Amino acid sequence: MNRKKFIKTCGIAFVGLPFASALLTSCESIYYATNSIQNNKIIVPLSEFEIPKKNSTAYRNFVMVKTSNQDFPICLYKTGENQYTASLMKCTHRGCELNVGGGIYSCPCHGSEFDTKGGLLEGPADQDLKTFKTLIKNENIHIEIS
Ligand code: FES
Repeated sequence: MNRKKFIKTCGIAFVGLPFASALLTSCESIYYATNSIQNNKIIVPLSEFEIPKKNSTAYRNFVMVKTSNQDFPICLYKTGENQYTASLMKCTHRGCELNVGGGIYSCPCHGSEFDTKGGLLEGPADQDLKTFKTLIKNENIHIEIS
């Protein structure tokens, strides 16, 4: 490869990198965590955030929590060390199920967006998401649903 062709190839790779990165960020996979219900609390083991690798452990940014008595899943999002938020994935505009990716929740119906704490970022919705209190206890996250 001559010098001119090398520079051209590197330039294309350099320009394409941010797009590839954005695409990968928006393709975070959805993982439904195992859970149990006790006294109006959904219990999710902290280990559900772990992704075992060959010689290490990676961690998910979020997991989805679905129980048989909910119409919509709850997204349990890790926002810091031992800090988690739990938001109902039901858009406050007209009730569509939200998507998660790129650090926000977005509505496929009319485009509303919410942050990972359930706060409204962009309409047409005009209210924050329904959120639930979380508590870490004995290697589990307790989501208070009452
Ligand atoms: S239902 Fe979500 S923006 Fe309309």
